[in-house]
Amino acid sequence: MPRIAHLYFRTAIIFLIIGICMGLKMAISQDHSVIGAHAHANLLGWVTMAIFGGYYALNPEKAERRIAVVQYAVYTSGVTLMVPSLYLMLMGNEAMEPVVAIASLITFAGVLMFAFIIYTGSTAARTAPAE
Ligand code: HEM
Repeated sequence: MPRIAHLYFRTAIIFLIIGICMGLKMAISQDHSVIGAHAHANLLGWVTMAIFGGYYALNPEKAERRIAVVQYAVYTSGVTLMVPSLYLMLMGNEAMEPVVAIASLITFAGVLMFAFIIYTGSTAARTAPAE
């Protein structure tokens, strides 16, 4: 599996663990105010990162491109900034609002870079060697 795919899965599983911890905290405390942070950790973190990793695993030529590393750095830093700042904002810390806004834009930039990667470069499929 390409290194970038591995990196994505390693990062994704951390977000699933964090997302589930937030879900359990909400369920136990019966205070669902951090629902947005829980949903974003699970969906932008676990689900989307796993899809990105799966795409790179299936398209090793794209995973070798330098932009793939930049895309990983941009997207993961956006989500890593967004989840805790959103959590704090939903807990009542209004000062976090601009941080959430900046993190959202960084995350979106990572998504646009991924779209660029999908639409450009080689699309040659790898075939299994004949036995
Ligand atoms: C053990 C694991 C999990 C626990 C304990 C948990 C717990 C919760 C709780 C208590 C809520 C609030 C429900 C409400 O206020 O209506 C919630 C909402 C939500 N959860 Fe989870 N969750 C878990 C895993 C996941 C996963 C893996 C995902 C996504 C991949 C996810 C996505 C969502 C979403 C999108 C919402 C918002 C639903 C809505 O607004 O209707 N959760 N979760």
